[in-house]
Amino acid sequence: MRLEDEMKQLTIRRPDDWHVHLRDGAVLKAVTPDTSAHFSRAIVMPNLVPPVVTTRDAAAYRDRILAAIPSGHDFTPLMTLYLTEGTSAEDVEVGFRSGLVTAVKLYPAGATTNSQSGVRDLSKVMPVLERMASIGMTLCVHGEVTDPSTDIFDREAVFIERVLAPLRERLPELRIVMEHVTTKDGVDFVSSQSENMGATITTHHLIINRNAILAGGIRPHYYCLPVAKREEHRLVLRRAATSGDARFFLGTDSAPHVDPLKECACGCAGIYSSLNTMSCLAHVFEEDGALDRLEAFASLNGPAFYRLPPNEATITLERRETAWDYPRKRNTGEDDITVFDPMFPLHWVAT
Ligand code: NCD
Ligand code: ZN
Repeated sequence: MRLEDEMKQLTIRRPDDWHVHLRDGAVLKAVTPDTSAHFSRAIVMPNLVPPVVTTRDAAAYRDRILAAIPSGHDFTPLMTLYLTEGTSAEDVEVGFRSGLVTAVKLYPAGATTNSQSGVRDLSKVMPVLERMASIGMTLCVHGEVTDPSTDIFDREAVFIERVLAPLRERLPELRIVMEHVTTKDGVDFVSSQSENMGATITTHHLIINRNAILAGGIRPHYYCLPVAKREEHRLVLRRAATSGDARFFLGTDSAPHVDPLKECACGCAGIYSSLNTMSCLAHVFEEDGALDRLEAFASLNGPAFYRLPPNEATITLERRETAWDYPRKRNTGEDDITVFDPMFPLHWVAT
């Protein structure tokens, strides 16, 4: 009998979420407790409207996040700056050295939700990237081209070829995380690089392929960016996540949008999974006979990449006979946010 068949409880170091959207205002208040309940730290994405561009913006946003954490939750938001063609290298360095800012996020202009102020011409931000390389600061990359002539399912692969590989050659010392990798091409590329390149993998991309969005009806709550790909890609992501390979770590990309903005003729991209991510992951890792590697993926590889200590506190996941009847919605006071439905019962519960 395999170890995990007997295991009814799994205790691991507390996980961190290396890519999350907490938003602002009423949504921030509604969703932050779901992250802080299970995660000790999270890399918080800066794509607000207007975006978090300067260290000063990040300090103000951090205060709003701290105010949304329930008492009794021990949670540290790790702030990111939204890279624009006007970003000052000096400001980035000041933010990093002060400990307030952990990383800078590169959105190719137009790639995803609220990315209009992103980068059009990479050469314009090279001075910032060079400064980051020299101080050991991480660049988080949304790895999709936005060129409308590129098929949406190919945007990640084309980005690697046109943007990421040349950037790696030009500035090999820059620490880069390819965010929410969704393809075999992405996994292969990251695996071929040196230790200063990593990738986050979301919970949902380990569970759904593109059929979830499109087969038998259009399901907006499975629509996110990068869009889920074919089954063969999902299987490669599963292997990367469950392998224990230190380059791959959890970034849920939990991206809440209220239901009216998802369930309409032009719905927003984003899946809200903070609430049940750890249960979903325990299911996935158990299914792949890799429960003993869940801690590496969720709690060890990320801090190692970001050169931070792993959390001392622990979390216990328990496998229950009766499936967890998790809340299907979170309410902002005005609207609902639909929680990710993995389409299997959740027997693992974080206690
Ligand atoms: C994110 C969002 O809504 O902010 N959406 C998503 O589908 N993941 C943006 C992003 O991370 O691309
Ligand atoms: Zn995201």
